[in-house]
Amino acid sequence: MSSALLPASIDDTAAALRAQGYVAQRALATATFLALRLQRPLFLEGEPGTGKTEIAKTLAAMLGRPLIRLQCYEGLDLAGAAYEWNYARQMLEIKLAEGQASREELSRDLFAPRFLIKRALLQAIDPANAVAPVLLIDELDRADEPFEAFLLEVLSDFQITIPELGLVKALTPPIVVITSNRTREIHDAVKRRCLYHWVDFPDAATELEILRLRVPEAPAALARQIVAFIQGLRRLDLYKLPGVAETIEWSRALLELNALVLDPATLHDTLGVLLKYQDDIARVQGSEAARLLEQLRVAEGG
Ligand SMILES: Nc1ncnc2c1ncn2[C@@H]1O[C@H](COP(=O)(O)OP(=O)(O)OP(=O)(O)O)[C@@H](O)[C@H]1O
Ligand SMILES: [Mg+2]
Repeated sequence: MSSALLPASIDDTAAALRAQGYVAQRALATATFLALRLQRPLFLEGEPGTGKTEIAKTLAAMLGRPLIRLQCYEGLDLAGAAYEWNYARQMLEIKLAEGQASREELSRDLFAPRFLIKRALLQAIDPANAVAPVLLIDELDRADEPFEAFLLEVLSDFQITIPELGLVKALTPPIVVITSNRTREIHDAVKRRCLYHWVDFPDAATELEILRLRVPEAPAALARQIVAFIQGLRRLDLYKLPGVAETIEWSRALLELNALVLDPATLHDTLGVLLKYQDDIARVQGSEAARLLEQLRVAEGG
């Protein structure tokens, strides 16, 4: 796909994302626009549930590209991330070739592409791809540090060297999105190859807009109350603050319960949708909830 089909400006980028239901604030729209135009990976770090993973899915839909996802985990290695040889098929081939092929022929044949199992990274740079995909490397902080060293070749040159086969290089670079929840720092060498953006919790106006797009059936007054309440919660010193994902979930839960406004009883019974730690729930169920609801009432002049 040529760059002519990429958004032409920051505004274009924001509008195209929004058309897919994703609200990007100016700084994120800028980073995304530049990542697309400069063919650089986009590195997103930030609060949980703030749309880091979602933007990769949205970009794939928006640009009509396949999404290839690499979910990182402790112990992820080359075999899990890039490729491995199909050992079982190779053994079978040896059995079948017994007495027929010479040793040299056999060892050459055994490392042919048909015995290669392609994992996410290799799939993403496969020169056979009709269009360059979106490659999501999700939660890189969960992988071990040595894995990052291996990523460097992929991120800077969009290529992987397979000792038995040679160099595999993308014809057109994939669009790469890397996310991290910052449970540890990612190495500078990786970050330097990327455009970096910190994804914060959205402000109230942005969150309301996200809610309008994602849960359009929520009445406007309820949506406003939900957002104001959650923005208030995020000012508390809780162990885990609710993300946008929780805002959406909670709105759906409240609709399911036919709630038209936030009242103390409904709030009390649905806090588990927003908060996932008992200490946080206990704290909010106590005086904080009443105080936040009172603030809402005053702010609305009711
Ligand atoms: N800016 C946004 N515009 C539209 N929807 C959003 C936005 N941010 C978050 N969401 C919604 O919140 C949900 C959670 O987002 P996502 O999974 O991308 O979060 P995340 O930042 O990857 O979180 P985690 O760190 O927990 O993986 C998405 O499914 C999406 O519906
Ligand atoms: Mg995520």
